[in-house]
Amino acid sequence: MSALLITNIGELTTNVGSRDGDRFGALHDAAVLVEDGRIAWVGSALDAPAADETVDARGHAVIPGFVDSHSHLVFGGDRAAEFEARMAGQKYAAGGIRSTVAATRATSDDELRVRLRGFVDEMIAQGTTTVEIKSGYGLSIDDEERLVRLAAEVTPEVTFLGAHVIPAEYADRADEYVDLVIGPMLDACAAHSKWIDVFCETGAFTVEQSRRVLEAGIARGLQPRVHASQLGPGDGVRLAVELGAASVDHGTYLTDADVLALAASDTVLTLLPGVEFSTRQSYPDARRLIDAGVTVAIACDTNPGSSFTSSMPFCIAIAVRDMGMTPAEAVWAATAGGARALRRDDIGVIAAGARADVVLLKATSRTHLAYRPGVPLVQQVWKHGVAMLDAPTTGTEDHGSLTR
Ligand code: NIG
Ligand code: FE
Repeated sequence: MSALLITNIGELTTNVGSRDGDRFGALHDAAVLVEDGRIAWVGSALDAPAADETVDARGHAVIPGFVDSHSHLVFGGDRAAEFEARMAGQKYAAGGIRSTVAATRATSDDELRVRLRGFVDEMIAQGTTTVEIKSGYGLSIDDEERLVRLAAEVTPEVTFLGAHVIPAEYADRADEYVDLVIGPMLDACAAHSKWIDVFCETGAFTVEQSRRVLEAGIARGLQPRVHASQLGPGDGVRLAVELGAASVDHGTYLTDADVLALAASDTVLTLLPGVEFSTRQSYPDARRLIDAGVTVAIACDTNPGSSFTSSMPFCIAIAVRDMGMTPAEAVWAATAGGARALRRDDIGVIAAGARADVVLLKATSRTHLAYRPGVPLVQQVWKHGVAMLDAPTTGTEDHGSLTR
């Protein structure tokens, strides 16, 4: 068993609350020992134990790996033309999902797999060490089964979202489609899935249909999470809280009653800043949520329609700039908050016994993630103790120079 010591850390975010009330658990001049894929020790660099290998963080910041608790990474095609039209003034609508369904059905397993792995690599390079992936662009028994099966090849956090939108062939037969989802489609998908999700929104599924979907999933041992209040206020948050969902996601239009219900519950509200950015909707007020006592997570919602970014640093920057979060709150929401949204306590923290999912930044503090938007600040990522990025080459003639 070999041990890795990351030392000389200028600012270490542990997310383990300290006695002085700092829930972000920032340590300075710190070190972390990794053994066997787990964090073995955390403390002052001065007291660091010996190790087989040492990484000198040179005063830079270290944070837990990002936990991206909401994505739709298995799909064919893209919707760049739709984005372009939106930037010219057109409104986002749930119906656009159907064009990705057609493209996904026409894409082979092998091609979907290559694209999926490409997106996951993109995420890792930006500091993400856990990702939840939803189906929802198949919407037939065979296609949904393909999507959850492929997703399960790259993450244990797989969500069955057969109830993403009513497919074209079921237009005007929504309840029949729900019967399909909670019957044979669920039968085909349950074995590959941990979560059940539904898009509870005007243009997608009513609250009654959403309840049927979630209750059927729960009866099969899946755990509920819900897309709600993205395009307007609705009853999705109330339903999610009532059914004990781990998370309700979007929350762009929350009523005061929604906020009170969330604050009194174990349900996390997952904000998706990339969605408002790329649909040109108003940003939800994270300050209002946090001040009311709601647990808030941040995720990318990577998908070809409403948010085609895979960058947690980008989403953190938006959450700080436009949603009223402090940099420390946003980093917490993107790490420990995501872990809560997935009901995981082994990730999102840097503490003895946790998985060694660790990110070294090319910056002296986590604040730089929002302060230097768009700049690739991730230097190294360890997932389960394994370094995921090639070590940077420095000191050669070609680095730090544009003379050639
Ligand atoms: O989370 N809200 C529903 N589903 C996706 C959008 C999917 C799409 O537009 O293709 C979301 O934003
Ligand atoms: Fe989504």
